[in-house]
Amino acid sequence: MKRINRDLKEEIRDYWSKRSETFDLAFGHAIAAGPELDAWAAAVKQALGPQPRRVLELACGTGEVTGVLLGLGHEVTALDFSEAMLTVARRKHAGHKKVRFILADAESTMEDEASYEAIICRHLVWTLTEPEQAFSDWRRILRPGGLLLIFDGDWARPTLMGRAASLVIHVIDLLVGADPHHGGMSDRHAAIMAQLPFGGGLTTKRLVPMLADAGFADIELSSQWTIAVAQRKHATLRNKLRTLIYRRFILSCRKSGEAAGSLRPHVDRRHG
Ligand SMILES: C[S@@+](CC[C@H](N)C(=O)[O-])C[C@H]1O[C@@H](n2cnc3c(N)ncnc32)[C@H](O)[C@@H]1O
Repeated sequence: MKRINRDLKEEIRDYWSKRSETFDLAFGHAIAAGPELDAWAAAVKQALGPQPRRVLELACGTGEVTGVLLGLGHEVTALDFSEAMLTVARRKHAGHKKVRFILADAESTMEDEASYEAIICRHLVWTLTEPEQAFSDWRRILRPGGLLLIFDGDWARPTLMGRAASLVIHVIDLLVGADPHHGGMSDRHAAIMAQLPFGGGLTTKRLVPMLADAGFADIELSSQWTIAVAQRKHATLRNKLRTLIYRRFILSCRKSGEAAGSLRPHVDRRHG
């Protein structure tokens, strides 16, 4: 069983490593200066507050969210298990005094206990192979009351509007040719998805009780609507449509002082 899991992780790492040099070219990955960056910064600031914090960014990829955190003055440890991704991120933030990059597994970070005030990740949770183990590790390395901030989505099931948007994108692709940076390596992506715990879809309905069991409280949910609105401002029609396909969410919660498994989730739905 362990062997299968290790093989899956290697496959995931290799998949992202191969996408590292072109990752930023696919819409929704690079965060454009202007309205989009402002929307990301506002969402992060709302959760983390105005004070600079000691933050661990999990699965930093090419360092786009790292840039948002550094722009807000935080002291960032940015972690990824793909050396190729880290190479792109290091290049982007070369010389910045408040960031250190580490090569590590986000599911077992090996960081010191209670060493971070906040943990943030974008588009990592859906690809975890052992989410329970990861959540318990994240709780361990957070200070009491520390914040976990997750940006993610249900990438397996398009919304009703999303299905219509995908159809229109398909028609545009037929008319003008497919976007070379979208849908690349899709067979490998599908094969990985099929083996993941959240491969059938990452929903907050599944995630909230898992986080509560891992010892997180004050769970708050909101949509990424303001970010999507900002992304649409300067996007092509195809990319505008892409913002409608999947349900994306922001989840924040805090390390509780109570033992794992002893909490009932209290969910505060801010909007959506
Ligand atoms: C979809 S990309 C997101 C990158 C970045 N967070 C962003 O939003 O731009 C997924 C990233 O997660 C990393 N990753 C996946 N599983 C990981 C793990 N177990 N440990 C560390 N990094 C992981 C991949 O190497 C890749 O960089």
